[in-house]
Amino acid sequence: MSVYLPIQQNISLRGYNTFGVEATAHAFLSVTDSSMLPAVRDDAAFGSLPRLVLGCGSNILLTSDFPGLVLHMELRGIAIERQDTRATYIRVAAGENWHQLVLWTLAHGFGGLENLSLIPGSVGAAPIQNIGAYGVEVKDCIESVTAFDFETGKVFTLPKNECAFAYRDSVFKHSLHNRAVILDVTLALRRDWQPNARYAELAEELLAREIKAPTAKDISDAVIAIRHRKLPDPAVVGNAGSFFKNPLVPAAQRDALLQRHPQLVSYAQPDGSYKLAAGWLIDQCGWKGRSAGAAGVYEKQALVLVNRGGASGHQIWQLAQDIRADVMSRFGVQLEAEPVLV
Ligand code: EPU
Repeated sequence: MSVYLPIQQNISLRGYNTFGVEATAHAFLSVTDSSMLPAVRDDAAFGSLPRLVLGCGSNILLTSDFPGLVLHMELRGIAIERQDTRATYIRVAAGENWHQLVLWTLAHGFGGLENLSLIPGSVGAAPIQNIGAYGVEVKDCIESVTAFDFETGKVFTLPKNECAFAYRDSVFKHSLHNRAVILDVTLALRRDWQPNARYAELAEELLAREIKAPTAKDISDAVIAIRHRKLPDPAVVGNAGSFFKNPLVPAAQRDALLQRHPQLVSYAQPDGSYKLAAGWLIDQCGWKGRSAGAAGVYEKQALVLVNRGGASGHQIWQLAQDIRADVMSRFGVQLEAEPVLV
């Protein structure tokens, strides 16, 4: 049985990336059914082109046109698969919107995802960089991930312990990069749910609201309020959330930095290393609120780069390089970009 592939050519990607930068895709396919992927693989004209998988485009910086085939993931569906004594297992298609899923789980009485409210992006993208916020990472709630393998032409399911999840990292950024296309994610939402309000800013917000025993909905509401206050809405100002990862450094380096900069913000990691707040480092270098043409650093969070209107991906990348160089020369710390660079 042959599958029809409605591939379009020379498509503007401006509406498909939350930075809102202009770039043209040589070819573009809305993936509305998983059977399209083996058909792409077998296609004589398009099967051998470079591929770019796009969800909501909220973690990507396009610095040039894309000469290959964009696969825009539009697979839909949320289903409760099963329940056992430990958890409820929910299978969600890659093209679902992450925040809408969080709201769906809350409306159905399932806790677990509330700290991850309002993160822009699709469900299929969430495991790739192991999205995280306010003390929770998506790995904490993942049971397994199902993907199509362009190398073998087969669909496979990886249990969580084979996904190599780490801070903003997974196997999908390494050995499975350019190879696996995530089809759906199965979440395990624990029946013995407990609130996680250890992140200082979240705890303060709940205190200000005089909430002592928060429900999952209370936490979601608090996270949404914090994010609205501190992070720009991509529908209004182009951005891709945090532009840099918080760098991990050895304890000796953090101690030396703390000697010279007593205000340094750092978090101890289980392995003895420290995570530094990159936003603080960039802020200290005086970048907060600055602009370079239409590319800029957000006024309320120095870790977020913004497109103030009409910036090119190249201009935003250049600004990022200038920030990195400054942080390196002032603190001796290497910043690594969080979004995918194309
Ligand atoms: N800070 C400053 N100046 C700034 C920004 C931050 O001094 O301009 C300081 C803050 O005062 C705070 C510390 O840096 O003491 C950390 O700031 P914040 O709580 O805003 O969090 P973050 O480390 O900058 C990370 C994630 C965010 C996530 C928040 C909350 C990364 C790269 N970023 O930001 O995730 O929402 O924690 O958990 O890990 C994203 O990945 O796109 C993202 C937004």
